[in-house]
Amino acid sequence: MPDDPRIAAIVDHLRARGLGGPFACAIVTGTGLGALVERLTDACSVPYREIPGFPAPRVSGHGGTLHAGGLGGRRVLVFEGRAHAYETGDAAAMRVPLSIAEALGAHALLLTNAAGSLRPEAGPGSLVALTDHINLSGFNPLVGEAGDGRFVPMVGAYDADLRSLLHVAARACGVVLHEGVYAWFSGPSFETPAEIGMAGRLGADLVGMSTVPETILARFLGLPVAAVSVVTNLAAGIGGGDPHHSETKAVAARAATDLARLAEAFVTLLPEPRA
Ligand code: HPA
Repeated sequence: MPDDPRIAAIVDHLRARGLGGPFACAIVTGTGLGALVERLTDACSVPYREIPGFPAPRVSGHGGTLHAGGLGGRRVLVFEGRAHAYETGDAAAMRVPLSIAEALGAHALLLTNAAGSLRPEAGPGSLVALTDHINLSGFNPLVGEAGDGRFVPMVGAYDADLRSLLHVAARACGVVLHEGVYAWFSGPSFETPAEIGMAGRLGADLVGMSTVPETILARFLGLPVAAVSVVTNLAAGIGGGDPHHSETKAVAARAATDLARLAEAFVTLLPEPRA
């Protein structure tokens, strides 16, 4: 949407409020993962409700504020809270925010989420870098898009170079970082053990209700993507896993500090963006 006048108007508005780019990275924080925001220096913040076209996140644990500030010596844009497809049925709910990130001059996108793990060795509190995804939702955020740009290539959607930097960052800050494939279920109900059994046979290591539509949108917009899941629970039926939202929020809040340290170390490794 680079030529979309609505996007241009929002970009002008945000620049006037001190949220101009360029940014080494835009970061989307998942459920209970807003701890990163406390690490920002000289932050300018605007609630989503004051930005035309921005979603109003409705899930408890999601802040709904856009921040621009310093992190690890770089300038970053942080989306504290996201809209999910399960809130309204709109898989493109994050299209305006991500278009804004691109139009404001973000050079990369770091997506974070809370997820269930199918791997007992990567249990609650673990951090996992996504290598790929499986879209089991039946939704796609580019449905209705005109033009050949909608046929977005998805090989290498999770950028290998950015993932290498995530691993370097993890070593630098003493955080264990696993790798895995993320399966997107639409939610909002959690999965059944039979569904998790299916996802495991299909090659999934993690399950969650977000991130995949944002990765598709980001690739459509030309933004390279890195993504990290915080494991909040074992997936339904795995080692007795029986996920509940209160559990996912509580574990996410505890693991958020590790994620924030990882994100800061990662951002430090990114090149200084040119305007
Ligand atoms: N399933 C789907 N989404 C999730 C889970 C889960 O087990 N945990 C955190 N988000």
